[in-house]
Amino acid sequence: MATERTLSIIKPDAVAKNAIGEIIARFEKAGLQVVAAKMLKLDDDKAGGFYAEHKERPFFKDLVGFMTSGPVVVQVLEGDDAIAKNRELMGATNPKEAAPGTIRADFAETIDANAVHGSDSAESAEREIAYFFGADEICPR
Ligand code: TYD
Ligand code: MG
Repeated sequence: MATERTLSIIKPDAVAKNAIGEIIARFEKAGLQVVAAKMLKLDDDKAGGFYAEHKERPFFKDLVGFMTSGPVVVQVLEGDDAIAKNRELMGATNPKEAAPGTIRADFAETIDANAVHGSDSAESAEREIAYFFGADEICPR
């Protein structure tokens, strides 16, 4: 297994639920290390650019509205197989279909406010990490 980095976002709904610590604890307990983190309030441009791949989808406007509705916590997670491991911990995009014990099953109810983001591939991870963090903001341990 290769050591990888992935981008994680704790979305506004989970921040509003005061679940930042519980969610980060799941990453740490699964062997992922936080090597960068910050809290941000995204604006339309920053959220829209992040989700540019979904620009033509019918849910895009609502997605940007949701992602700008409150602060988010953005992190870089590092560890063996970090990209797939994070996606596994997150559960399916639709919390109603997410496996029991996953973050989305436990902290979200609907697909449009689903608690967390995680990069879906090595290419996405590279782009998404650079979208939020400069090299000097990442602290390997
Ligand atoms: P997507 O990249 O398909 O899911 P994931 O977050 O699991 O990688 O979609 C990005 C976000 O867009 C998703 O987390 C929530 C939102 N979304 C909707 O609101 N409705 C939808 O039908 C889909 C597919 C996504
Ligand atoms: Mg995605």
